[in-house]
Amino acid sequence: MGHEIGVIGGDGIGPEVVAATREVLDAVADVHSLDLSYVEHGWSCRGYAETGSMMPDDGLDRLAQHDAILLGAVGWPGVPDHVSLWGLLIPIRRHFRQYVNERPIALFEGMESPLRRLEPGGLDLVVVRENVEGEYSEIGGRLNRGFPDELAIQEAVFTRAGVTRIVDHAFALARTRRGYVTSATKSNGIIHTMPFWDEVVRERAEQHPDVRCDQELIDAFAAKVVLDPGRFDVIVASNLFGDILSDLTAAVAGSIGIAPSANLDPTREHPSMFEPVHGSAPDIAGQGVANPIGTVWSAVMMLDHLGHGEAATELMAAVRASLRDPATRTRDLGGTADTAAVTAALVAHVRGRTS
Ligand code: NAI
Ligand code: MG
Repeated sequence: MGHEIGVIGGDGIGPEVVAATREVLDAVADVHSLDLSYVEHGWSCRGYAETGSMMPDDGLDRLAQHDAILLGAVGWPGVPDHVSLWGLLIPIRRHFRQYVNERPIALFEGMESPLRRLEPGGLDLVVVRENVEGEYSEIGGRLNRGFPDELAIQEAVFTRAGVTRIVDHAFALARTRRGYVTSATKSNGIIHTMPFWDEVVRERAEQHPDVRCDQELIDAFAAKVVLDPGRFDVIVASNLFGDILSDLTAAVAGSIGIAPSANLDPTREHPSMFEPVHGSAPDIAGQGVANPIGTVWSAVMMLDHLGHGEAATELMAAVRASLRDPATRTRDLGGTADTAAVTAALVAHVRGRTS
């Protein structure tokens, strides 16, 4: 069965890492006889400058036709970040009810954590971030703009259905891993939504007695992720906490350049979206040095989601092999390889030749 993938390169290094990933996917498709086709959407901040919108009016309808979406990154200096994010990325997540944001991370052989005592394998976890409600809500507003009594209100929205389904996803995922869930909370300081989150976590934990479950206050949790990251398996967190924790865990592993994410609609009614955790990295854009691994690992998650487990496993093996070799590590990992060299190595591994 063929799969049509909608591709949004976006801004900065986004198109670079997506082009690299497409090259690698072509090799995977070739080797595994997969029928993958692509529809490119050039939506970006550049387009915004020309048209005044981040995507066309029928953008979401067009995306709805695809089996999956592969996205690079959006955002560019000159366009406020809330305009670019709320004009493209966030509507996709919400309209397609991609309520789960899975963000795995691991320390592979060849990578060096800034935490010197951490050995490869000493960190292997998934942040399961609630992706459509919580602190990133549209409810609120601003009053008295420009006056001394100006005010801004932003309401955090936590629903029983929303918390239940993300927590259940985390428990189910933990069952396929080391059977341990840690819930990120702040119920000591945030007195309505977070105690509610904790209550739902406790209720769902009773339904999953085979999975161990702890909760950690987000501030102490951040410290523990740095001091003892090997402890954690699946971390379930609200939209904001999950966003922050996944950058932190990626940095602990050595670089945000390798961190992938899957925005999942587990009901499969809508297409899911796969994208690296990083942004458009204006500081290195156009130099051909971006690490493509975050996007390639995202493509591994996409292949898994589309039912191509074997191809996914082999592509992941290629990722591990390219990281193991100092000659194919990018600058963010302390190497000297450029995007093209890593891409070529990945393609060679996929095709069964080591470079
Ligand atoms: P960023 O993730 O783009 O960059 C942070 C740092 O990590 C930079 O020093 C960058 O060079 C480095 N980096 C990121 N990806 C890398 C890669 N693949 N290889 C090597 N180094 C890499 O975050 P920043 O600078 O806060 O945001 C830049 C723009 O991206 C902003 O407009 C922001 O809104 C947008 N953004 C978009 C996201 C998305 O599309 N999902 C997520 C995060 C930020
Ligand atoms: Mg982020």
